[in-house]
Amino acid sequence: MDLRVFDNAQQASIAAALALSQHSGKNAIFGFATGNTPRGTYAELADRGGVQCKQAFALDEYVGIDGDDPRSFAHYMRTVVEAPLDLPHGTVRVPNGLASDLNAEAASMELAILQTPVDVQLLGLGRNGHIGFNEPGSRKDTLTRVVKLAQETRLDNGADFEGLAPERAITQGIGTILRAAHLILVATGAAKKEAVHKLLEGEEDDQWPVTHLAQHPNLLLLVDRAAVD
Ligand code: GLP
Repeated sequence: MDLRVFDNAQQASIAAALALSQHSGKNAIFGFATGNTPRGTYAELADRGGVQCKQAFALDEYVGIDGDDPRSFAHYMRTVVEAPLDLPHGTVRVPNGLASDLNAEAASMELAILQTPVDVQLLGLGRNGHIGFNEPGSRKDTLTRVVKLAQETRLDNGADFEGLAPERAITQGIGTILRAAHLILVATGAAKKEAVHKLLEGEEDDQWPVTHLAQHPNLLLLVDRAAVD
């Protein structure tokens, strides 16, 4: 694991943008994350003229939310990633949370990622240690699937949903994410401290899904002081 500690979140975002842009190119396959943390990274990449890639994948999507809904991760990918980074509309594949067969949708996403392996995956971190929507209890070998969100995640992400985010989501699994050649994990702010410390301790624990990333051969962990001190 390559750990870099920055004075503030903005510096960590710039470092993530620099690391990601090194992989930019017409054949690149990216994995993009949602949440507040990577917004600074996308803004920095946009300032640098965007990125190039052949295809990209989102980590997750809420079940029951239309892709046109501003609260969906599909909307986030269009407005925070594709347009600012100058990527053609539809570059980022996002699971369809309204699919009539959600298990088939998850399996189709998994197959697509298997056939088009991700070169570099950008990741944020839930304060309970979740990665994507792999909540506590997620094993290392999990694949893309339908999951129930932890109550604290529903509350953390509830601002747009009158307090409580949807009950379920489709998420790439920990096993799916671990297949990416490079992982860039950005964690900033004191709320992420406990999860970051679990990762740094290096002991794998399903109750802290982020700990499964410790053994990845190319994990770049970018944190600010608040997340480690
Ligand atoms: C969501 C996403 C995660 C993200 C996490 C942290 O639950 N599914 O991919 O890492 O939130 O979000 P934030 O960066 O806003 O703290």
